Amino acid sequence: MLDLRSDTVTQPSTGMRAAMAEATVGDDVLDGDPTTRALESRVAELLGTEAALYVPSGTMGNLIALCVHARPGTEVLLDAESHIVHWELAGAAAVAGVQVRPVRASDAVMSAADLAAAARGRGRYEVPAGVVCLENTHNGAGGRVSLPSALQAMADVAADLGIPVHLDGARLWNAHVATGLPLAAFVAPVDSVMVSFSKGLGAPVGAALAGSADFIARADRVRKRLGGGLRQSGVLAAAARYGLEHQLDTLAQDHALARALASALDGAGGARVVPPDTNIVMLDLPHAAADEVVAAVSAVGVRASVWSTTRVRFVLHRDIPADALTALVPGVAEAVARALVGAPTSG
Ligand SMILES: Cc1ncc(COP(=O)(O)O)c(C=O)c1O
Repeated sequence: MLDLRSDTVTQPSTGMRAAMAEATVGDDVLDGDPTTRALESRVAELLGTEAALYVPSGTMGNLIALCVHARPGTEVLLDAESHIVHWELAGAAAVAGVQVRPVRASDAVMSAADLAAAARGRGRYEVPAGVVCLENTHNGAGGRVSLPSALQAMADVAADLGIPVHLDGARLWNAHVATGLPLAAFVAPVDSVMVSFSKGLGAPVGAALAGSADFIARADRVRKRLGGGLRQSGVLAAAARYGLEHQLDTLAQDHALARALASALDGAGGARVVPPDTNIVMLDLPHAAADEVVAAVSAVGVRASVWSTTRVRFVLHRDIPADALTALVPGVAEAVARALVGAPTSG
């Protein structure tokens, strides 16, 4: 069975487990963990920021950024289909005290024009804007890459509003590998970024926040407040470092497999794929049959996820052998077609 539900399902590789076992560690809350410090320095260097901070998860990284950037009672403007809107348990509202303001994208992802159109005035009773959050690659849009120029245009709108920009870069590595552009080029327009180690890079745990030294100093205090101060975190940081140094380039293979899967599935039973920029393949169904499609592809050896009643998601990652997937792809396309013919057409 090939598990394409997410790139979070990867197992730590043998080399990664060895790096974890050999890590030099210390109490990071008390007086610092050397392996974690080294990871943070490397991440800051790669992203072109003054500093970085290891955090237990991407969700906590995004939440910390909201807490640092936005005062309670302000709002976060972000793409209506972003991860923060759908999958982070309303932490923005429940913990940061910030109202979520979902912005409808006129194309695949929110543009500077969409953002500018959504901006409120500064009237006496209007909700003040607190922060803009961007997402790159965009999970819900099928792993879509936004180029640095698009990020800069949105940052310009935020600057006009007088507010900072946070980038949810859980899969920024994929944008970097897909375009060949330096990671720092995607980060230069924004005030802070979260990158994840537990997706395409294959680490079992962890993410990092990066930004100015002042932002990271404030983020460090919020991390502790949220219970994210970790003790011998070097065991985990070593896995992240190993992923960065040894497993970043393999993302190109994930992207190639995504393209191959997408071209085989496009048109099956009238379904349409969102052409993948990176490692995510979204399959849009002609009617509400996502449960049936997921069951049908599972029966031929591929696990996928229901994204909505009319959309199924497949995510490629380093634990999917190219030959095994290639052998299964024709059967997967047939299974999709069969499920769509057999499924009811209403609803
Ligand atoms: C775009 C995006 N942001 C944030 C997250 C949250 O990361 P974590 O699962 O580490 O909390 C995810 C997880 O899938 C994601 O896809």
